[in-house]
Formats: sequence, structure tokens, C-alpha cells
Amino acid sequence: MNFGFGQAHAKAHLLGEHSVVYGYPAIIAPLLSLSTKAEVIDSDKTLIETDNFSGTMFQLNYRFSGIYSLLTELLNFFEEPDLTFKLHIKSNIPSKKGLGSSAAYAVAIVKAFCDYFDYDYSDEEVFKIAQISENKNHGRSSGGDTYAVMAEGPIFFDTNKDATILKLDTKAYIVVADSGTAGLTSQAVQLVADNYEKDPETFGNYFKQMGAIAEKGREEIIADDLKDFGRLMTENQNLLAKLGVSTPYLERLIKIALNNGALGAKLTGGGLGGSIVALTDTEAKAAEIKKALNKAGAPESWISKI
Ligand code: PMV
Repeated sequence: MNFGFGQAHAKAHLLGEHSVVYGYPAIIAPLLSLSTKAEVIDSDKTLIETDNFSGTMFQLNYRFSGIYSLLTELLNFFEEPDLTFKLHIKSNIPSKKGLGSSAAYAVAIVKAFCDYFDYDYSDEEVFKIAQISENKNHGRSSGGDTYAVMAEGPIFFDTNKDATILKLDTKAYIVVADSGTAGLTSQAVQLVADNYEKDPETFGNYFKQMGAIAEKGREEIIADDLKDFGRLMTENQNLLAKLGVSTPYLERLIKIALNNGALGAKLTGGGLGGSIVALTDTEAKAAEIKKALNKAGAPESWISKI
């Protein structure tokens, strides 16, 4: 019996979401405690099973057309368009929370099929195929999430769409908290595109400022200057609010994180709901911030060392 396994983790944008769609850089950290695992096994009938779906390719196309296109492309890539299989996916990454769940799904599936076909893949190959569903899901996708959910460390995703792992010598911790409201990335990306179309000068200028913040952020984090990096995160948040993707729920949690000693805080991912990320320099402070955020109503939160 043939079997394939693949997995990918969640991520949090520390700087640069949205502007990254317009070609500016972003810094994205892995959240290793949340992951998606995919298994492919031989079967005489195709069945796809996830935590909230069980059905055939036909039914999958109706519900999750991005994953359907991805599987079709994968079967063509391996020159096995008629292969029948059972694909089982299990994930503890909450969806629509700005944590890269769709990219993690795509990468886990691609890696599982590569393993099934005993194919020695490169990150670039996984990226190219996984982007098929990301582009379909988000309308327009920078690709930053796809690299971040594969990377073991924080990445600097640059204007050439190359990801470099930042080798850090830092004691930074991030606290990521779910605001309890959902944010659909495709809607957020569309809203920003509409705003940009209406006023290209102002919004183009916001993207430029966000790009400069991410460039500066790379220097600060490499130099372990967490106070300045935190300030840049909060500055980035102010620009995200100007883009129109922040919400009162997110703003409230950001304020609570800052009032409880965070060095910086912002929404993370698409926004319009979803999660926030706060930075701190000790595990004890991270635990305090997490406690305050939970007390304020965040249904779930996670601490990660970066
Ligand atoms: O909401 P998420 O986790 O899918 O992150 C989206 C990040 C954006 O910059 C808004 C979109 C992109 O393609 O980079």
C-alpha cells in the first residue's frame, strides 16, 4: 500500500501584510504549535476528508474550489490524472483568523503527494503548486504565507518574492490572540484593492511607508533592538487601520496588549477580524499579556519564541 504524509504550520505577520501584495517586503514568523497534517493513501474510490468536509472531488470543487484546482494540478504534475486516493487532513489552525490556514492546507497537501510519489521536492516547487489554491482563494496572493508556513524560522519575504530565513539572536516572544471574529482574507485584499483604485496616490503612499517599515524592521530585529521593532509594529498597525482592515475588536485587543507591557502590537494577516500579534522580550511578560487578552475575551491565544 502506498502512503504519503505532509505537514505545514501556522504563521503570523510581524510586519508588511497587504503592502506585500503590492510588491513590498514583509516579515512573517512561524507559529509551530499550530499545524495542518495531510495523509494520502491508496483507495479504489477518491475520498477527501477534513475536519468539516467529507466528499468526492466533484463535491470538493463545489465547496473548496482552490483545493480542488490544487489536487487536479498535482495529479497532472505526477502524470496520474486518474489516480484514486483517500486524502485525510487534520488541522488545529483556526481558519479566517489571519494565521495562514489556507496556505498550510495547500502546502501540507502538496508535500503529502510528493511523499506519496516519492518525489524529492524543493521549497520552490512546493511553493509554485501551493500558490494555485492560494491565488484562487484570495483573488491575489503575495505568496508570503506559502513560504512562511514551510519555514522553521521568521522569514523576510522580499520584493522578488524570495524568502530568507532571518537568523536571529533574540529573546523575543510573540503573543497571538484570536479576536473571536472572523476575517476573510479575500474580502480584505479586495477592500484594499478598491481603496487603492479610488485613491492610488494616498494608498500607494501607505504601501510605500509599510515597505520602509518592514525594511527597517529587518535591521532592528537582526540587531535585537526589540523596542524599536515593537514601535514599528504599532506604526504598521496605524497604517493598516488607514487601509481600512482594522476593526474595533482588533483595536481593543491591541490596546490591551500595549497597556500590559507589549513593546508593539498590531493585527496580523488579512484583518477585518482575525487575530492580533504582540511583541515582548520575556516569557513571563508574554504570559501576562496572554492572560490579559484572554480576560478581555480573546477565545484563544498562543505564545511563540521568535
Ligand atoms: O489572512 P492571511 O493569514 O491569509 O494573510 C494574508 C496576508 C495578506 O498580505 C493580506 C495577503 C497576501 O497574499 O500576502
